[in-house]
Amino acid sequence: MAGMKAKIAPSMLSSDFANLASEAERMLRSGADWLHMDIMDGHFVPNLTIGAPVIESLRKHTTAYLDCHLMVTNPIDYVEPLGKAGASGFTFHIEVAKDNWQELIQKIKSKGMLPGVALKPSTPVEEVFSLVEHANPVELVLVMTVEPGFGGQKFMPEMMEKVCRLRERYPSLTIEVDGGLGPSTIDMAASAGANCIVAGSSVFSAADPAEVISTLRKSVEAVQHNI
Ligand code: DX5
Ligand code: ZN
Repeated sequence: MAGMKAKIAPSMLSSDFANLASEAERMLRSGADWLHMDIMDGHFVPNLTIGAPVIESLRKHTTAYLDCHLMVTNPIDYVEPLGKAGASGFTFHIEVAKDNWQELIQKIKSKGMLPGVALKPSTPVEEVFSLVEHANPVELVLVMTVEPGFGGQKFMPEMMEKVCRLRERYPSLTIEVDGGLGPSTIDMAASAGANCIVAGSSVFSAADPAEVISTLRKSVEAVQHNI
């Protein structure tokens, strides 16, 4: 895993949305690499959050990497608006992209964003292999470690088998884990091979977010140094 950097991505879903710009700034000051933006349509998941207008507003306040996680039924409809709004990464769910993932990847790249694919806990990991192995591949795989929809849920350790399989097969892939990550669960995810860590409630509820972010980073780096 040499050269594959640890990325710590606080999930802004746990932030005070009424003060999004200052919350983003607070996370970056605390050592965040990316800002994870959970876009939910109230249909793919039973929750409704933000869309391109909010990304566009936040983009005016920061140059940070905006890691957008699309929990929506029609991801293709969001590519153009999010590209224009200034999103950096665009991660769609395979469950709603079985027929058009090639078109999605191509379109995401053409708008200057980094394409990623996410899978729900019940989706077998084999379903994303062809997207990573394609001539025009995704550059990130997001393994959900809770049911998508809400922050503050319990980490599912049984998802680590998917992370291990991906890491064995793709030594330099960016593997992101999302849901229930914090100081008490990070070692499981890091040792399975995840290098990109989304953390919402554990970071935002901490008295010292910088300390949590640093703990997450050290765990990922410790595994990398041992390889
Ligand atoms: C859940 C979202 C996550 C969520 C993580 O559907 O994709 O990004 O905000 O929050 P925590 O870290 O609290 O589980
Ligand atoms: Zn997410």
